[in-house]
Amino acid sequence: TVMKNISGLKNMEKQLEEVLGVSKVVIVSGDSDQYATVKNEMGLACVKEIERALGADNIIAVTGGSTLAAAAEMMHPLRRTHQDLLFVSARGGLGEKVENQANTICAKMAEKAEGRYHLLHVPDQLSDDSYHSLMEEPSIHRVMQHVHHATIIVHGIGDAKTMAIRRHSGEDFLKRVDTEHAVAEAFGYFFDQTGRVIHKVQTIGLQWEDLFGARSVIAVAGGKSKAEAIQAYFKKGPDSVLITDEGAAQQILKNF
Ligand code: G3H
Repeated sequence: TVMKNISGLKNMEKQLEEVLGVSKVVIVSGDSDQYATVKNEMGLACVKEIERALGADNIIAVTGGSTLAAAAEMMHPLRRTHQDLLFVSARGGLGEKVENQANTICAKMAEKAEGRYHLLHVPDQLSDDSYHSLMEEPSIHRVMQHVHHATIIVHGIGDAKTMAIRRHSGEDFLKRVDTEHAVAEAFGYFFDQTGRVIHKVQTIGLQWEDLFGARSVIAVAGGKSKAEAIQAYFKKGPDSVLITDEGAAQQILKNF
Protein backbone atom coordinates (compact mmCIF):
# COMPACT_ATOMS: atom_id res chain seq x y z
CA THR A 1 0.00 0.00 0.00
CA VAL A 2 2.97 2.31 0.51
CA MET A 3 3.82 2.01 -3.19
CA LYS A 4 0.21 2.63 -4.08
CA ASN A 5 0.14 5.78 -1.96
CA ILE A 6 3.31 7.07 -3.58
CA SER A 7 1.98 6.58 -7.09
CA GLY A 8 -1.27 8.21 -5.95
CA LEU A 9 0.63 11.29 -4.78
CA LYS A 10 2.68 11.41 -8.00
CA ASN A 11 -0.56 11.36 -9.92
CA MET A 12 -1.99 14.19 -7.86
CA GLU A 13 1.20 16.21 -8.35
CA LYS A 14 0.77 16.02 -12.13
CA GLN A 15 -2.89 17.00 -11.89
CA LEU A 16 -2.12 19.95 -9.63
CA GLU A 17 0.64 21.17 -11.94
CA GLU A 18 -1.92 21.32 -14.70
CA VAL A 19 -4.73 22.81 -12.69
CA LEU A 20 -2.59 25.52 -11.06
CA GLY A 21 -0.34 26.13 -14.05
CA VAL A 22 2.97 25.72 -12.22
CA SER A 23 5.93 23.73 -13.46
CA LYS A 24 6.40 21.59 -10.37
CA VAL A 25 4.30 20.44 -7.42
CA VAL A 26 5.56 18.33 -4.55
CA ILE A 27 2.92 16.77 -2.29
CA VAL A 28 3.77 15.25 1.09
CA SER A 29 1.30 12.81 2.60
CA GLY A 30 -1.14 13.83 5.33
CA ASP A 31 -2.86 17.08 6.24
CA SER A 32 -0.91 19.69 8.20
CA ASP A 33 -4.19 21.09 9.60
CA GLN A 34 -4.45 17.83 11.51
CA TYR A 35 -0.87 16.79 12.21
CA ALA A 36 1.93 19.24 12.94
CA THR A 37 4.58 16.75 11.72
CA VAL A 38 3.25 17.15 8.17
CA LYS A 39 4.55 20.74 8.25
CA ASN A 40 8.03 19.41 8.96
CA GLU A 41 7.73 17.07 5.97
CA MET A 42 6.87 20.09 3.80
CA GLY A 43 9.83 21.86 5.38
CA LEU A 44 12.14 19.03 4.42
CA ALA A 45 10.79 18.98 0.86
CA CYS A 46 11.42 22.73 0.75
CA VAL A 47 15.05 22.30 1.81
CA LYS A 48 15.49 19.75 -1.01
CA GLU A 49 14.06 22.19 -3.54
CA ILE A 50 16.33 24.99 -2.32
CA GLU A 51 19.27 22.62 -2.77
CA ARG A 52 18.14 21.79 -6.31
CA ALA A 53 17.87 25.47 -7.19
CA LEU A 54 21.36 26.45 -5.96
CA GLY A 55 23.90 27.88 -8.37
CA ALA A 56 27.36 29.41 -7.90
CA ASP A 57 26.09 32.59 -6.26
CA ASN A 58 22.97 32.42 -4.22
CA ILE A 59 20.78 35.03 -2.62
CA ILE A 60 17.90 33.31 -0.92
CA ALA A 61 15.05 35.58 0.22
CA VAL A 62 12.71 34.15 2.85
CA THR A 63 9.39 35.32 4.28
CA GLY A 64 7.75 34.40 7.58
CA GLY A 65 5.08 32.06 8.89
CA SER A 66 4.93 28.76 10.71
CA THR A 67 5.47 26.74 7.52
CA LEU A 68 8.72 28.56 6.71
CA ALA A 69 9.70 28.17 10.37
CA ALA A 70 9.38 24.40 9.83
CA ALA A 71 11.61 24.68 6.75
CA ALA A 72 14.25 26.47 8.84
CA GLU A 73 13.97 23.72 11.44
CA MET A 74 14.69 21.07 8.78
CA MET A 75 17.62 22.94 7.15
CA HIS A 76 21.05 21.28 7.01
CA PRO A 77 24.51 22.43 5.80
CA LEU A 78 24.44 23.39 2.11
CA ARG A 79 27.92 24.81 1.97
CA ARG A 80 29.84 21.77 0.72
CA THR A 81 29.34 22.28 -2.98
CA HIS A 82 28.18 25.84 -3.25
CA GLN A 83 30.31 28.90 -2.83
CA ASP A 84 28.25 31.85 -1.86
CA LEU A 85 25.14 31.38 0.20
CA LEU A 86 23.45 34.54 1.39
CA PHE A 87 20.08 34.47 3.10
CA VAL A 88 18.06 37.69 3.31
CA SER A 89 14.78 38.50 5.06
CA ALA A 90 12.09 39.41 2.56
CA ARG A 91 9.92 41.06 5.21
CA GLY A 92 10.48 43.31 8.19
CA GLY A 93 9.11 42.81 11.68
CA LEU A 94 5.42 41.94 11.73
CA GLY A 95 2.85 41.66 14.48
CA GLU A 96 3.69 37.97 14.59
CA LYS A 97 5.23 35.71 17.18
CA VAL A 98 9.01 35.96 17.03
CA GLU A 99 9.46 32.38 15.81
CA ASN A 100 7.22 33.18 12.81
CA GLN A 101 9.05 36.36 11.77
CA ALA A 102 11.07 36.42 8.56
CA ASN A 103 14.16 37.69 10.42
CA THR A 104 14.15 34.80 12.89
CA ILE A 105 13.61 32.26 10.14
CA CYS A 106 16.27 33.81 7.92
CA ALA A 107 18.93 33.75 10.64
CA LYS A 108 18.10 30.20 11.64
CA MET A 109 18.11 28.92 8.05
CA ALA A 110 21.44 30.58 7.36
CA GLU A 111 23.04 29.18 10.50
CA LYS A 112 21.87 25.65 9.80
CA ALA A 113 22.81 25.92 6.11
CA GLU A 114 26.20 27.39 7.10
CA GLY A 115 25.60 30.50 5.02
CA ARG A 116 25.63 34.24 5.69
CA TYR A 117 22.60 36.37 6.39
CA HIS A 118 21.31 39.94 6.24
CA LEU A 119 18.22 40.84 8.23
CA LEU A 120 15.67 43.56 7.62
CA HIS A 121 15.56 45.66 10.78
CA VAL A 122 12.42 47.62 10.03
CA PRO A 123 8.81 47.40 11.14
CA ASP A 124 6.76 45.87 8.38
CA GLN A 125 3.90 48.35 8.14
CA LEU A 126 5.00 51.93 7.54
CA SER A 127 3.55 55.37 6.97
CA ASP A 128 4.56 57.18 3.76
CA ASP A 129 7.04 59.40 5.58
CA SER A 130 8.79 56.61 7.44
CA TYR A 131 8.84 54.47 4.33
CA HIS A 132 10.69 57.08 2.30
CA SER A 133 13.17 58.04 4.96
CA LEU A 134 13.97 54.42 5.87
CA MET A 135 14.51 53.56 2.22
CA GLU A 136 17.28 56.13 2.22
CA GLU A 137 19.13 54.45 5.08
CA PRO A 138 22.22 52.88 3.45
CA SER A 139 22.04 49.71 5.56
CA ILE A 140 18.40 49.13 4.62
CA HIS A 141 18.97 50.06 1.02
CA ARG A 142 21.72 47.44 0.83
CA VAL A 143 19.53 44.64 2.18
CA MET A 144 16.74 45.68 -0.19
CA GLN A 145 19.10 45.44 -3.16
CA HIS A 146 19.73 41.82 -2.17
CA VAL A 147 16.00 41.15 -1.86
CA HIS A 148 15.34 42.62 -5.30
CA HIS A 149 18.13 40.51 -6.78
CA ALA A 150 17.29 37.29 -4.98
CA THR A 151 18.08 34.20 -7.02
CA ILE A 152 15.76 32.02 -4.94
CA ILE A 153 12.61 33.21 -3.16
CA VAL A 154 10.94 31.03 -0.56
CA HIS A 155 7.54 32.08 0.77
CA GLY A 156 4.40 30.84 2.45
CA ILE A 157 0.78 31.36 1.43
CA GLY A 158 -1.91 31.96 4.02
CA ASP A 159 -5.66 32.16 4.25
CA ALA A 160 -6.55 35.88 4.08
CA LYS A 161 -8.83 36.04 7.11
CA THR A 162 -6.54 33.93 9.28
CA MET A 163 -3.57 36.14 8.42
CA ALA A 164 -5.45 39.42 8.92
CA ILE A 165 -6.52 38.31 12.39
CA ARG A 166 -3.13 36.84 13.29
CA ARG A 167 -1.41 40.11 12.36
CA HIS A 168 -3.88 42.18 14.36
CA SER A 169 -5.35 44.09 11.42
CA GLY A 170 -7.90 46.78 12.30
CA GLU A 171 -11.68 46.46 12.05
CA ASP A 172 -11.73 48.34 8.74
CA PHE A 173 -9.41 45.95 7.06
CA LEU A 174 -11.14 42.88 8.48
CA LYS A 175 -14.35 44.22 6.95
CA ARG A 176 -12.62 44.72 3.59
CA VAL A 177 -11.41 41.13 3.65
CA ASP A 178 -15.10 40.17 3.72
CA THR A 179 -16.55 42.74 1.32
CA GLU A 180 -13.77 42.32 -1.25
CA HIS A 181 -13.69 38.55 -0.81
CA ALA A 182 -9.98 38.28 -0.05
CA VAL A 183 -9.05 34.63 0.20
CA ALA A 184 -5.25 34.49 0.04
CA GLU A 185 -2.27 36.25 1.58
CA ALA A 186 1.40 36.06 0.66
CA PHE A 187 4.28 38.45 1.56
CA GLY A 188 1.86 41.16 2.69
CA TYR A 189 -0.33 41.07 -0.42
CA PHE A 190 -3.98 40.04 -0.21
CA PHE A 191 -5.67 38.37 -3.19
CA ASP A 192 -9.27 37.64 -4.15
CA GLN A 193 -10.47 34.44 -5.82
CA THR A 194 -9.38 35.64 -9.26
CA GLY A 195 -5.85 36.33 -8.02
CA ARG A 196 -6.34 40.09 -8.11
CA VAL A 197 -4.40 42.04 -5.46
CA ILE A 198 -7.00 43.76 -3.29
CA HIS A 199 -4.58 45.13 -0.72
CA LYS A 200 -0.88 45.40 -0.12
CA VAL A 201 0.90 46.35 3.05
CA GLN A 202 3.11 49.42 2.57
CA THR A 203 6.30 47.63 3.36
CA ILE A 204 10.01 47.71 2.85
CA GLY A 205 10.44 44.20 1.58
CA LEU A 206 9.72 41.82 -1.24
CA GLN A 207 7.51 43.29 -3.98
CA TRP A 208 5.31 41.44 -6.45
CA GLU A 209 7.64 42.30 -9.37
CA ASP A 210 10.57 40.64 -7.58
CA LEU A 211 8.85 37.28 -7.89
CA PHE A 212 9.10 37.42 -11.67
CA GLY A 213 12.82 38.10 -11.83
CA ALA A 214 14.10 35.35 -9.54
CA ARG A 215 15.79 32.21 -10.83
CA SER A 216 13.38 30.16 -8.79
CA VAL A 217 10.40 30.71 -6.56
CA ILE A 218 9.39 28.12 -4.01
CA ALA A 219 5.96 28.41 -2.36
CA VAL A 220 5.25 26.26 0.68
CA ALA A 221 1.68 25.94 1.92
CA GLY A 222 -0.51 23.03 2.97
CA GLY A 223 -3.57 21.99 4.94
CA LYS A 224 -7.12 21.60 3.69
CA SER A 225 -7.93 25.07 5.05
CA LYS A 226 -5.50 26.68 2.58
CA ALA A 227 -6.88 25.04 -0.57
CA GLU A 228 -8.81 28.10 -1.71
CA ALA A 229 -5.90 30.42 -0.90
CA ILE A 230 -3.41 28.35 -2.89
CA GLN A 231 -5.76 28.17 -5.86
CA ALA A 232 -6.41 31.92 -5.82
CA TYR A 233 -2.75 32.86 -5.43
CA PHE A 234 -1.71 30.88 -8.51
CA LYS A 235 -4.37 32.44 -10.75
CA LYS A 236 -1.93 35.26 -11.49
CA GLY A 237 1.07 34.06 -9.49
CA PRO A 238 4.54 33.50 -10.94
CA ASP A 239 5.77 30.14 -12.12
CA SER A 240 6.85 28.35 -8.97
CA VAL A 241 7.63 25.10 -7.30
CA LEU A 242 4.71 24.48 -4.96
CA ILE A 243 5.27 22.32 -1.93
CA THR A 244 2.00 21.28 -0.36
CA ASP A 245 0.31 18.38 1.40
CA GLU A 246 -2.35 15.82 0.62
CA GLY A 247 -4.99 17.73 2.61
CA ALA A 248 -4.70 20.84 0.43
CA ALA A 249 -4.14 18.90 -2.80
CA GLN A 250 -7.26 16.75 -2.43
CA GLN A 251 -9.40 19.76 -1.66
CA ILE A 252 -8.08 21.79 -4.62
CA LEU A 253 -8.72 18.90 -7.02
CA LYS A 254 -12.20 18.47 -5.55
CA ASN A 255 -12.95 22.16 -6.20
CA PHE A 256 -12.26 21.69 -9.88
O1 G3H B 1 2.24 34.60 4.15
C1 G3H B 1 1.75 33.55 4.49
C2 G3H B 1 1.76 33.20 5.86
O2 G3H B 1 2.95 33.62 6.35
C3 G3H B 1 1.56 31.73 6.11
O3 G3H B 1 1.74 31.48 7.46
O4 G3H B 1 2.80 29.26 7.34
O5 G3H B 1 1.91 30.13 9.48
O6 G3H B 1 0.36 29.44 7.67
P1 G3H B 1 1.70 30.01 8.00
